[in-house]
Amino acid sequence: MSRRGLLTGGALAAGGTVVGAATVAGTRTDPSAHPAAQPVDTGVGELIEPFHGVRQAGIVEEPQAHGAFVALTLRPGSDRASLGRLLRLLSDDAARLTQGRPALADTEPELGLLPARLTVTFGFGPGLYAAAGLDDRRPPSVADLPPFRIDRLEPRWSGGDLLVQICADDPITVAHAQRVLVKDSRPFATVRWVQQGFRRAAGAEPGRTQRNLFGQLDGTANPKPGAPLETAVWVTEGPDWLRDSTTLVVRRISMNMETWDLLGRTDRELSVGRRLDSGAPLTGTLEHDEPDFAAVGPDGLTVIPDFSHLTRAHVTDDRLRILRRPYNYDGVPAADGTADSGLIFAAYQADIAAQFLPIQRRLAEQDLLNEWTTPIGSAVFAVPPGCPEGGWVGQQLLE
Ligand code: HEM
Repeated sequence: MSRRGLLTGGALAAGGTVVGAATVAGTRTDPSAHPAAQPVDTGVGELIEPFHGVRQAGIVEEPQAHGAFVALTLRPGSDRASLGRLLRLLSDDAARLTQGRPALADTEPELGLLPARLTVTFGFGPGLYAAAGLDDRRPPSVADLPPFRIDRLEPRWSGGDLLVQICADDPITVAHAQRVLVKDSRPFATVRWVQQGFRRAAGAEPGRTQRNLFGQLDGTANPKPGAPLETAVWVTEGPDWLRDSTTLVVRRISMNMETWDLLGRTDRELSVGRRLDSGAPLTGTLEHDEPDFAAVGPDGLTVIPDFSHLTRAHVTDDRLRILRRPYNYDGVPAADGTADSGLIFAAYQADIAAQFLPIQRRLAEQDLLNEWTTPIGSAVFAVPPGCPEGGWVGQQLLE
């Protein structure tokens, strides 16, 4: 019996365990036994992020160089039991691949040997709660965002019932994990959209803030590790399906490289309120200097413009911060050379209504950067707690 047949055909529903499937995998050759397949220790490929834990991985860790966000639409007729089977299966794939082991019945097992800090993070869209008949357990702000006047949203980049966020420092590892997870989802779901992106290569600029494709340092004012990050990202109380969860907003934001090109360096810096070279606020000299929004220049105007991205997005209360974990995208240019570049803007926060929405409202109302950026996709997900060994993501909610 094929692995999919075994796992989707009712063995698990009938109380079987994944051990049954392991027998299938056991008949395969172990690729790691061959010397040519032994990973070479470069300090990048072999690094492992834990999969099991109270909280899901792929959120507060240093972002990996490559990311794929895969949004799935559940097939009609999905219910709580079928969702349980799907998430058992995908959690098992993720538990293996993230630890540098091929998935069960992996058709390219050699590609499963270099985890390169692979993380697989699952997010539940509003449709998943509806399919499971668990709308009363959906965090209220995990719902379509209200429309903003800057939005030019396209359905092909929006919505989704189940999100699989796959991040690693190696693009082949990401591609393989995506292939395995999508293949195993097929009996349960169709692919709604996939957004693939990148940051600096692992080791290229250790400890530095990454740059987006406008050349800006992007991520400077993220909540600091420790208490600020804890407060901003995690739900710390409530029933077990909510505690240690978080929420994710994914916005695909196109960046108009052509009109940005027309802008001088000074205007570019004024639009954000920070310097391009150092990332320092226009009132400071170092990247992490506190911006002084009251400072006035010789012309009588504030040094950091009132409508700069920095002024409009700035948050001082740790409880209201968001954790931005964006990836750049750079598609194929049009025939005339027009770029298809932008940001897969991914933000984690404990509560979308309290944290993300007020910032997004202020930016939609007034933000100089809006002139060169356009949101073309939008999706929201609850990110449930993690799972212990032998468990699966979503178990607290769905079982
Ligand atoms: C393509 C779109 C965007 C670009 C290019 C962009 C770029 C930047 C840059 C360069 C900074 C300053 C450095 C830093 O702290 O990271 C920044 C800060 C920030 N951005 Fe954006 N951003 C974009 C969209 C957004 C969106 C959609 C939101 C939220 C709704 C947002 C929220 C923030 C926040 C909260 C800060 C930190 C402000 C502070 O407290 O100092 N950004 N962004």
